[in-house]
Amino acid sequence: MSLDLSAVIADITATMASMEDRGQVATYIPELATIDPAQFGIAIATADGRMLTGGDADTGFSIQSVSKVFALTLALGKVGDQLWDRVGREPSGNAFNSITQLEHEQGIPRNPFINAGAIVVADVNLGGHEPRVAIGEMLRFVRYLAGDDSIAINEAVAASETATGFRNMALANYMRAFDNVRHPAELVLGSYIHQCAIEMSCRQLALAGRYLMLDGRHPGGGRVISPRRARRINALMLTCGHYDASGDFAFRVGIPGKSGVGGGILAIVPGRAAIAVWSPGLNASGNSCLGTLALEELARRTGWSVFSPPEDRG
Ligand code: DON
Repeated sequence: MSLDLSAVIADITATMASMEDRGQVATYIPELATIDPAQFGIAIATADGRMLTGGDADTGFSIQSVSKVFALTLALGKVGDQLWDRVGREPSGNAFNSITQLEHEQGIPRNPFINAGAIVVADVNLGGHEPRVAIGEMLRFVRYLAGDDSIAINEAVAASETATGFRNMALANYMRAFDNVRHPAELVLGSYIHQCAIEMSCRQLALAGRYLMLDGRHPGGGRVISPRRARRINALMLTCGHYDASGDFAFRVGIPGKSGVGGGILAIVPGRAAIAVWSPGLNASGNSCLGTLALEELARRTGWSVFSPPEDRG
């Protein structure tokens, strides 16, 4: 029986609407604490060019750490595999903003998806320019990926994080002591914080993620990155995309995914679909509570786990 994806999305959206436990919205960035946790959206861009949506799929949210996927893609394009001299590729087993591991590991962050790793990536992307140049480049890149020039930065979220981002500033300065951050910490963070404050809807985020389901190709033609890089980014999303809950996410969902404290998750089914879910309430690990549940149910109903044999994939 062929898969009725619209019916699956409608069911999941209805189930999520009835959930009472929606987790807690992030409060350490004060602007995020104002978001209504009653929202849930899902959008699926399929490899054959369809777009299916449910719930609040057109409501914008700040993508936060999901931006680390796009920033990593840009940095690999700039410095290639030399990036891996400055950032590891192992799950951290620690919270996303942990500082302790950095001392043991001489200022080399475990992976590009924890905050320390993403700050090194932002340092690479800064490349001697003013933050506004790097931010402009990131915004143009995300717009090109999504095919949507209306994507913008939520300046209130950026200002809110700038006023309270003491931990990230500490991480940047600490890595500067090891010469693994090469620009002044305030410039690197200016760029990093604005990249996190990019606002997108589920629909826009799923569109932006299509190159990762298409082995690095842009659906409009041409190539964003090589197949090898696209596969490696997906591998990192599976192993490191949910911080110290990455193992649990792989166990429950089985699809490469990257979460953000804004409540968004981008998930990639290679050759099949780019999925964005959003619900602002977070679980104890800082990942979207309903977003994770929705992806778990979607993977179960579609057979889209990357561990499913091909004949079980809808
Ligand atoms: O740096 C921060 O703390 C935020 N701008 C992003 C953190 C984040 O999204 C972690 N995700 N779960």
